[in-house]
Amino acid sequence: MAKKADEDAKPEADSSGIETLRVLVVHGPNLNLLGEREPEVYGRTRLADIDRELKQLGDELGIKVKTFQSNSEGDIITRIQEARGKVDALLINPAGYTHTSVAIRDAILALEVPAVEVHLSNVYRREPMRHRSTIADVAVARIMGFGAPGYALALRAVRSLVETARKQRA
Ligand code: DQA
Repeated sequence: MAKKADEDAKPEADSSGIETLRVLVVHGPNLNLLGEREPEVYGRTRLADIDRELKQLGDELGIKVKTFQSNSEGDIITRIQEARGKVDALLINPAGYTHTSVAIRDAILALEVPAVEVHLSNVYRREPMRHRSTIADVAVARIMGFGAPGYALALRAVRSLVETARKQRA
């Protein structure tokens, strides 16, 4: 089926009058292997299950969730750029790029919406190289150490983060 040109157009409020928010969820490199890769660190939940549950939760919360995973820094940046003006918030686990990528940080800044940094593991309990994040200070919030449920916790917080950001801008 052809992609509707207006698919990303601003959604209307739902029947209860609550504005439908649009959230992009970005998963970085190797997260496609969730469930198989180092399960003692990252758990046994697969990425497809996380994405499906986020979309279901989004339906309950009045949030239209789009998800994206890539192992490529450039593709992640392009996807974030494409979301400019089309999303109200970003949830991002840049995975290994968390610790190295100035370019993903720059793309998040250019998006100009609240971004939440998500990690499955508590990176501060791990090797020192994982203690540095290039996006920590451009994220409005960070959530880590909860495993897969951390994404849902972040999504539940999104509406209040968006409202706070809008008040600060007004
Ligand atoms: C991770 C932590 C990173 O250090 C690591 O490179 C990952 C996953 C996490 O979700 O805990 O790939 O972002």
